[in-house]
Amino acid sequence: MAYETIIVEVEDHVATIRLNRPDALNALNSELLGEVCQALKEADGNDKVRCIIITGSQKAFAAGADIKEMSDKSYVDMFMSDFFGTEGGTIGRTRKPIIAAVAGYALGGGCELAMMCDFIIAADNAKFGQPEINLGVIPGLGGTQRLTRFVGKSKAMDMALTGRFMDAEEAERSGLVSRVVPAKQLMEEARAAAEKIAEKSMISTIACKEAVNISYETTLSQGLLFERRAFHALFNTEDQKEGMGAFMEKRSAQFRDR
Ligand code: HXC
Repeated sequence: MAYETIIVEVEDHVATIRLNRPDALNALNSELLGEVCQALKEADGNDKVRCIIITGSQKAFAAGADIKEMSDKSYVDMFMSDFFGTEGGTIGRTRKPIIAAVAGYALGGGCELAMMCDFIIAADNAKFGQPEINLGVIPGLGGTQRLTRFVGKSKAMDMALTGRFMDAEEAERSGLVSRVVPAKQLMEEARAAAEKIAEKSMISTIACKEAVNISYETTLSQGLLFERRAFHALFNTEDQKEGMGAFMEKRSAQFRDR
């Protein structure tokens, strides 16, 4: 499918969605987020794809929701369109793993989009922030909720109330990103991680993603029960027999998603 604001490539089981509005530092407008959702649905439904990467440019992952698109809107406009609510839901429902490969600015909705992915690999020039307070508003795509869960209340409050940016080193130290890599190697590292994931059984991959995500939604005892039942259920797959059999036979497993 042809897109106007993103570039999608599928190579060796990995779909890469590159945000591509260079003149606006990849600001997220309705068209771009609509296209990201469409590309995610296609990747989720494409048997060849086993992992997804969302990335931007060296200068900006995304500098936030498009301020020019939002500036004239009224409360009723935002409420009745449930501004970016549907898009947030679609991203959250994607079953295959999504890696955010972030270089440059990840601000406002850009930081929130990165946090909706399953983990973030940051280039050493990455800058994260929730500067909406400078515009007379607050984060609206999960910033007050997800950032607080990632980095704790004190840092989340600091960032959301002052609008200051966090560099890659602080983001890694605070648990916002899983690793920091030299900017030039960002895509190589993200692809290597995606290819590692692509080697696994898709059944255990999806079960694992669901189990980790449940930890944000439920109590510890309910989460542990969910995990245990998912773990038990995987013993009904051929891939469990293959994975454990391969270990004992000292060879690499050939998973078939069965
Ligand atoms: C629209 C944007 C934009 C944005 C940058 N641009 N960010 N356009 N929406 N969020 C545009 C600029 O207007 C400019 O276009 C071009 O991109 C280059 O930006 P500059 O400002 O000239 O670049 P620079 O001086 O390098 O500064 C980079 C920056 C700054 C620090 C990232 O652009 C910035 O502060 N941007 C806004 C960040 C922000 O406030 N994000 C939160 C948005 S609210 P022109 O045509 O003028 O040259 C949000 C809410 C999410 O995200 C919730 C949704 C539900």
